Amino acid sequence: MMLSPSFLDELRARTSLSSLIGRTVKLTKAGREYRGCCPFHQEKTPSFYVNDEKSFYHCFGCSAHGDAIRFLTEAQGLPFMEAVKELAQAAGLDMPAPDPAAQARAQRAATLIDVTEASAAWFREQLGGLDGAAARAYLERRGVSPALAAAFGIGFAPDSKGRLKAALDRFGVPMLVEAGMLIAVEGRDPYDRFRGRLMIPIRDARGRAIAFGGRILDVGEPKYLNSPETPLFDKGRTLFNLDRAGPASRRTNRLFVVEGYMDVIGLASGGIDEAVAPLGTALTEGQMARLWRLVDVPTLCFDGDAAGQRAALRAAERALPVLTVGKSLRFARLPQGQDPDDIVKAGGVAAWEAAVASPAPLVTFLFEAEAAKIDATSPEARAGLRQRLNTLADSCADRLMADEYRRSFNSLFFERFGWKRPERGQLTQAVLDTGPAGRRELAGLYIRSVLYGLTRYPRVTVDRLETIGSLRIEHDAFRRWRDVLMRVAITRPDLDTDGIEAILSSEALTETARLNLMFDLRFPFNRTDVSPAYAIERLMAMVDMIGEERDLDDEIAQLNAAALTDTGLSRYEAIETARQRARERKLRLRERSYELGSIDETQAAELAAASAATGGM
Ligand code: UTP
Ligand code: MN
Repeated sequence: MMLSPSFLDELRARTSLSSLIGRTVKLTKAGREYRGCCPFHQEKTPSFYVNDEKSFYHCFGCSAHGDAIRFLTEAQGLPFMEAVKELAQAAGLDMPAPDPAAQARAQRAATLIDVTEASAAWFREQLGGLDGAAARAYLERRGVSPALAAAFGIGFAPDSKGRLKAALDRFGVPMLVEAGMLIAVEGRDPYDRFRGRLMIPIRDARGRAIAFGGRILDVGEPKYLNSPETPLFDKGRTLFNLDRAGPASRRTNRLFVVEGYMDVIGLASGGIDEAVAPLGTALTEGQMARLWRLVDVPTLCFDGDAAGQRAALRAAERALPVLTVGKSLRFARLPQGQDPDDIVKAGGVAAWEAAVASPAPLVTFLFEAEAAKIDATSPEARAGLRQRLNTLADSCADRLMADEYRRSFNSLFFERFGWKRPERGQLTQAVLDTGPAGRRELAGLYIRSVLYGLTRYPRVTVDRLETIGSLRIEHDAFRRWRDVLMRVAITRPDLDTDGIEAILSSEALTETARLNLMFDLRFPFNRTDVSPAYAIERLMAMVDMIGEERDLDDEIAQLNAAALTDTGLSRYEAIETARQRARERKLRLRERSYELGSIDETQAAELAAASAATGGM
């Protein structure tokens, strides 16, 4: 059903977001907003804000952001329509009448499911009947017990072109064709698609058969015949055994992705139900999204041979653009020539657990795969490798993730090829250890707060035009915001904050400025309870610091690009030290805001402890 934007707006307006979220998250009032510990990531210090007026939530730690519907779908796992219905009911709104075409489509899908479900039942009957003897013997030979076959709903399609068609004639031929059960060839009567095959139902997340994989008994071609794509069956979004693996993975908090139907069934014979398989193709982004709804880091299990490793690498490359904070993949390399089914058959569950005991994280897997391709003694090849790693990191759509991948690749590279980085300073490390929030600060939140400060004190932009103009700002909206400030400083230096805000709003940047208010206010130069003179002095110091850090970053980048000479190395170390000192000074600038009256005592305490650890410098 299509819902109109105005209906959704009305729904948001009538929903009190803080009370909705407050049902599951402890929120306390903080100014005009509410604050609590983020339900989307682990944290001890609250950085999750709810704004009732604007109807959105935002987490400064992990960037989770959305409205009431998003909250119900992401935090509580409701399907979109269910979330809307629940909110509408609570708000006393009637759901809009569905449009007839969509309703017809929905009805059709429901009836197609009746066809595939009825087919599955009929195949099961055949397996138990007279014609099923050979198939039952085959299952027994492969160690699939009747109970296991029943758990997977396995059946048998007799070797006939018309028996399923006759048995299910109540649905009519067009419906049987649309569900993929009959083949329609021009000039001939449609006939049974699956003949003389063991029938493995592919089920949706709710356990309903939507398609089939038909395995030939013993040998023959093709080994598997699968249902075609139908309105029910989208191969790229479906995973075999998702219905059984879902609950199992929530219990064990792990999830294996294996190659074949029989691998999943083999693992289940050893009591390992948290395994799924794609349907004979490479793992798609759509399938990854489904995996990530169950666990944060599923384990991909591939044969150790060259083909298996190529397939694993392809999956790894595909994952980067769709990675989000907290989600990833791990790679278990199985002994060459043995699939999971063989491993469980030969050595039981213990052999399986040993084979998957230490899977490689995505980042190391990629690095190793790429590094293995080059001749490490050739500088050209090493440069090529770094270029390739940078390209991989850049393929992350999430900027923060791209940054972190670049950093990890760099340190893996230098570890492997002999350039040891200096140890990081303790204070910086302590902040990094506070989790995603800490890393984000270093990655650019300072810039946003500075932009906010510059909006309040435009003359600082006039004074520091060059530094501010040359700051590299990745985020598009923030860059445009900076450009507005520059333009004003150059063409209208008399303009005050209200004037600038008017321009920001005409360029649709007001929301950007508002969103970060809670964070920005922690900086001394953005507080309302300090004198303008003090604020301006602090703001200038901060701008200078960021400029200085940027220059050092530039020099590092140049040195990285240059040959790894001894002078290069000692200069590198000197700069790392200087850069680290700049970072620490920057942190201490923030610390001052707590001395002025803290809005977040826990964080102040943490920073104080971190600063004490470095001798209070
Ligand atoms: P495998 O050949 O590894 O199949 O193909 P398997 O599941 O281990 O089956 P057994 O042990 O030989 O009986 C892996 C997957 O590739 C798809 C199927 O999804 C299969 O499970 N496939 C394979 C096809 O779709 N068609 C084929 O002809 C072969
Ligand atoms: Mn197999």
